[in-house]
Amino acid sequence: MADIKMTNLNKAYGAVHILKDVNLDISSGEFIVFVGPSGCGKSTLLRSICGLESITSGTLEIDKAVVNEVPPSKRGIAMVFQSYALYPHMSVFENIGFALENQGLPRAEIKQKVEKVAEMLQLTPYLARLPKALSGGQRQRVAIGRAIVRGAKVFLFDEPLSNLDAALRVQTRMEIARLKRSMPNTTMIYVTHDQVEAMTLADRIVVLQAGKVEQVGSPMELYDTPSNVFVAGFIGSPKMNFVTGGVAAKHKCHTLGVRPEHFHLDGKKGEIRGKVEYAEILGADSFLYVSTNTGVMTVREEGKTKFKPGDTVFVTPQAKNTHRFGEDGMRLH
Ligand SMILES: Nc1ncnc2c1ncn2[C@@H]1O[C@H](COP(=O)(O)OP(=O)(O)OP(=O)(O)O)[C@@H](O)[C@H]1O
Ligand SMILES: [Mg+2]
Repeated sequence: MADIKMTNLNKAYGAVHILKDVNLDISSGEFIVFVGPSGCGKSTLLRSICGLESITSGTLEIDKAVVNEVPPSKRGIAMVFQSYALYPHMSVFENIGFALENQGLPRAEIKQKVEKVAEMLQLTPYLARLPKALSGGQRQRVAIGRAIVRGAKVFLFDEPLSNLDAALRVQTRMEIARLKRSMPNTTMIYVTHDQVEAMTLADRIVVLQAGKVEQVGSPMELYDTPSNVFVAGFIGSPKMNFVTGGVAAKHKCHTLGVRPEHFHLDGKKGEIRGKVEYAEILGADSFLYVSTNTGVMTVREEGKTKFKPGDTVFVTPQAKNTHRFGEDGMRLH
């Protein structure tokens, strides 16, 4: 069990202020995903939690005890990085069991623990192999196995799948979801750039921008009711469309946000006139890029679209599914 609480947590490197008053409450067993643009401080926050970085001000508590000064090895946290740094001359078995061997555990107990973890991660057939004879996904699982075997109560993952190709990512993502289910009391914090990973793995997503928490919520809360323009534009792929000016004024807001699937498209009439610049026909759905007076709008259509580049079209926001924001960028209710 491990609850994690951050209170006004700040991190600066000299005069450079990286994390700004981060307040976060993470419950034992939650799967939390950090997302945000490159350089916003996701890795710095992970490293502060596990103790690889010191905190400049504020407090970090694990299970109600302040751990600001507790060394990394005493925090009960395991970190899995993007590059999995396995020992190249050791077999999978030895890589996973290394920490246990260091602790001086009896051989039989090491064997039992390593075999159990290998089974959990579907690594049993590879226990005798060296890392160089494994695929990227298998290597990443060995790295995860090393963390599990140490019995950590908190797992931190910093973009663990970003080195894998698309198919392996999907497979390893499913394995991480399964791993989470098999360890319901283990708290996991996961950093990713991948929208699908964030939406499918997270109990709650934390959106960061320039070292500040913009919003915390379940994937669907963030998707359906983003609290500001930044979160609205960040969550969802392709991105939400934003309209300002006359059309937004008609909807009584400064900025009107419309997701690509929430436009109605018509060849004859509608609210915003435009021209199809480009059409991506993917089979199950199509994405049209429509240039209008207020910029290029991305529109999703089910199936294969009948429109082609050069066609004049009209796009109309579905009234029930629009997002309205004020001049300050905050959601209007
Ligand atoms: N040791 C350091 N000294 C000074 N600045 C640093 C140091 N480490 C990181 N930074 C700065 O802190 C900011 C946050 O970096 P961080 O690595 O946390 O970003 P990130 O959100 O993980 O980005 P990415 O998505 O690219 O991995 C960046 O502007 C980075 O340049
Ligand atoms: Mg990073």
